[in-house]
Amino acid sequence: MEPGVEAGKDSQRQCQDYRGGALGGDLCEDLCEAGQLRYRRCLYYERGKKVLQADWRGRPVVLKSKEEAFSSFPPLGLLDGQPEAGGQDLPEAELLALAAGEARSALGLEPAEGGLGRLGLARRGPRRRGQLASLWALLRQEEFVLLSLLRGRSPHAPPVLGSCGPFYAVEHLAAGSPGHRALFPLGPDGGRRGQARAVSGVALSFLDMVRHFDHDFAHRLHLCDVKPENFAIRSDFTVVAIDVDMAFFEPKMREILEQNCTRDEDCNFFDCFSKCDLRVHRCGAQRANSNLQRGPLSPRVLFPPLRGSCRCTWRSSPSPHQLGSVVCDKIFRHWFSSPLGSSAVSGPLRGQLRAAVQECAAPGTQGAPRVLGRLRSLLQAVLRELRDGEEPRPGVRSRLHGDPHRGTPGAARKAPAVFGNHPFE
Ligand SMILES: Nc1ncnc2c1ncn2[C@@H]1O[C@H](COP(=O)(O)OP(=O)(O)O)[C@@H](O)[C@H]1O
Ligand SMILES: [Mg+2]
Repeated sequence: MEPGVEAGKDSQRQCQDYRGGALGGDLCEDLCEAGQLRYRRCLYYERGKKVLQADWRGRPVVLKSKEEAFSSFPPLGLLDGQPEAGGQDLPEAELLALAAGEARSALGLEPAEGGLGRLGLARRGPRRRGQLASLWALLRQEEFVLLSLLRGRSPHAPPVLGSCGPFYAVEHLAAGSPGHRALFPLGPDGGRRGQARAVSGVALSFLDMVRHFDHDFAHRLHLCDVKPENFAIRSDFTVVAIDVDMAFFEPKMREILEQNCTRDEDCNFFDCFSKCDLRVHRCGAQRANSNLQRGPLSPRVLFPPLRGSCRCTWRSSPSPHQLGSVVCDKIFRHWFSSPLGSSAVSGPLRGQLRAAVQECAAPGTQGAPRVLGRLRSLLQAVLRELRDGEEPRPGVRSRLHGDPHRGTPGAARKAPAVFGNHPFE
């Protein structure tokens, strides 16, 4: 079936339920009555999880739900026996307590004071029943809860724009993929220099993101599934974590890691590792590696049987290449490890970058802040070198020097060029 036709059927089903009062949300009116939200195509479908591309009031968005069918989510018991247009009299305190419980189990944290205010529990109106039922389906989606919490607090997380039924919308961005030679669609480039500049800009933003997730919240945010497909870039090269199903704040990370074990390998959860305490046969609650650096390779990984859930079972890993490793290993190594070829960047600088990335990606490396600082200054040196190699334009160079990677977005929008080489070769 044509992808557009399939997407059209999705919206018909959704709108039938909306008109019948079974579901709701602030985007339903635009989808079902005003024609302002149009599904375009299915981007991804696996085991019930659906990711759709759509246009909303002229902007490209993505709609996501962990379960395609609304009925797959457990219903809100309080609504039992309520009439179609009911739900008006449900006690707010009870609703709030239930919602707080859902958010707590999704995040492993007590939601901050007033943090549930933005969920619209107090909103009343003829469609309240459908709205509450939908909110319950949304609260069962850890990614929705986390992105709602991060809204306005992180340039590296996509803000939730609205919802209809179990689907929530985020902006559509240029997503990564191992199919891109530079891992991300960098757009029309300005030749090798343009590509090298773009890659350095994206790499610097990855470092900003790692620092931000490590330090800018009350609890460290751990990324346990680092691969290009789970990140996207904005036109100014800001990296955005578009798949946060496997991102956990410290308290939940500790809960996940603390399992029974007989050896260290039993304590690996995708890209997050801890160590087995052989005296008590318990994995340490403290993550042993970081968002930047990987831990020891292991022949086994932990697979969750349910998507986004943390109830886990053991399974053998088919290949060590599929094992978790983190930003330096899974993203940077691809860009900076090749010793071959000519480059837009000078040999010594390339060599230093390669060595720093190898050190960062190596198992068991200590001293993440030092490696991070070194990588940052090398990437800034690359951007300076690329700029210094250009024809000087009066007044431009000194301005860009002050803010090396923010000054480069134009690089990806120059004249299109077929890109024949790796950006750092
Ligand atoms: N905001 C977005 N912009 C563009 N593409 C997206 C966006 N969110 C998801 N995608 C695409 O859909 C794919 C699947 O979404 P993702 O959240 O990673 O699902 P899963 O948790 O099953 O891996 C992504 O790899 C990406 O290609
Ligand atoms: Mg993904």
